[in-house]
Amino acid sequence: MLQLRPVEVGDIPRLTRLLHAAYAELGAAGLNFTAVDQSYEVTARRINSGSTWVAEAGGRLAATVTLAIPPSSPLRALSLTAAAPRTAWLNQLAVHPDHRGAGWGRALFERCVREARARGAERLGLDTAEPAEHLRAMCNRWGFEGRESIHWEGKTYDSRVMSLDLAGASVGTTAEVNSA
Ligand SMILES: CC(C)(COP(=O)(O)OP(=O)(O)OC[C@H]1O[C@@H](n2cnc3c(N)ncnc32)[C@H](O)[C@@H]1OP(=O)(O)O)[C@@H](O)C(=O)NCCC(=O)NCCS
Repeated sequence: MLQLRPVEVGDIPRLTRLLHAAYAELGAAGLNFTAVDQSYEVTARRINSGSTWVAEAGGRLAATVTLAIPPSSPLRALSLTAAAPRTAWLNQLAVHPDHRGAGWGRALFERCVREARARGAERLGLDTAEPAEHLRAMCNRWGFEGRESIHWEGKTYDSRVMSLDLAGASVGTTAEVNSA
């Protein structure tokens, strides 16, 4: 089973390595997501921006996600969608390349849906690179709709803001999935 647990401070070096491994292909494609090369300090700041879960496999961290309620203040300053009341935000979703395609990404997303609902959020948002068509398509299949474009300072790409109406979403009821 994919067993999620809350992140601990001692996870920060291993979590940073997981994020670097997961986002390497996006970096190689010229998309300088923060997680491509973020420092331990940035990892610490980002996990403290919300609730972070991790999963282990084979003795190392293999998956993670952070749910921020409300979204960070820099994001709320950039995005009307993020600034709306009762909005939760999905950040730093990552599955190690060795464990892709087993449903872990969806399970992490569904954990966030359940948690956001339980905490009274009405919508779940995210932002991802406009040029990453496969990610936007995945999010569309999960029920997210595109809302607006924003630009984070220092990024090589514009970001697509997407959100999901939690009242109407037919997700979030399944348990975590079996691991490969
Ligand atoms: C995006 C990511 C978290 C998905 O993790 P995953 O565990 O492979 O995801 P899942 O197995 O749940 O599959 C998610 C979807 O991608 C599809 N998918 C998985 N592997 C695929 C592959 N090799 N090729 C094409 N589609 C694939 C699945 O069909 C699934 O679609 P569905 O949910 O509509 O059925 C993972 O690839 C990752 O860490 N990528 C790098 C970081 C990143 O892009 N984060 C998200 C930023 S918005």
